[in-house]
Amino acid sequence: MRVIIKDSAADCASWVAGYIVYRIKKAAPTAKKPFVLGLPTGSTPLGVYKELIRLYQNNRVSFEHVVTFNMDEYVGLPPDDKNSYHYFMQENFFKHVNIHPKNIHILNGMTKDYAAECENYENNIKAYGGIDLMIGGVGSDGHIAFNEPFSSLSSRTRIKTLAPSTIKDNSRFFDNDISKVPTQALTIGIGTIMEAREVIIMANGNNKAEAIRQGIEGNINHMWTITALQQHQHGIIVCDADAASKLSQPTIEYFKSIENRVA
Ligand code: GLP
Repeated sequence: MRVIIKDSAADCASWVAGYIVYRIKKAAPTAKKPFVLGLPTGSTPLGVYKELIRLYQNNRVSFEHVVTFNMDEYVGLPPDDKNSYHYFMQENFFKHVNIHPKNIHILNGMTKDYAAECENYENNIKAYGGIDLMIGGVGSDGHIAFNEPFSSLSSRTRIKTLAPSTIKDNSRFFDNDISKVPTQALTIGIGTIMEAREVIIMANGNNKAEAIRQGIEGNINHMWTITALQQHQHGIIVCDADAASKLSQPTIEYFKSIENRVA
């Protein structure tokens, strides 16, 4: 696992955006062989989207041949609901860049057939040859996408009931009213994430410090699903100093010294 510790959330965002651009350019995607990017929602990736939009406006990157798969979507929120992840992605990223609408994939939380929707999503990812680079955030309880504590570490795309901790955390987007937060979501699984060729998990702030400690220094276990990343051959955690604050000093020094030598 590679761990990048930056001073601020803004530094994390510009590092991740720069890395995405570097990967897209290196792949030199075409219509026949697009670059397949896995994308998250939440407050953590907002800075990444802002920076990607800026780089696009400065002609530093094109999304013409980029195909995206979002990680998850709430059950029961239509795409025009301002709290749906469809809406989030349009407003914060897609409408500002040259991505083709046909290349955008987000799970349909309004479907009547959850199993078929999830199976199609998995098949669609496979049809594109798998995800090249998956970007994710992490919940304060260590969940990635909506793979809540005690999710199977080999889970696939499916419907998931949200943990009380996630409902509480996410209620800030729903007028701080827990009763307004959907109780279920469709989400790619840990197994789906692990099949991406490369995975970046981002974390900012003190409330992510325990999740980051577990993810980097803890044992692999289904209570903190971020720990599955330890089994990935190309896993990267990018976090700010606050999110790294529960790591032991030797761990911090180790990863910082490695990155200093890389840079
Ligand atoms: C939600 C999303 C996750 C995200 C997490 C943290 O539960 N399903 O994908 O990582 O929130 O969000 P934030 O970045 O806002 O802290």
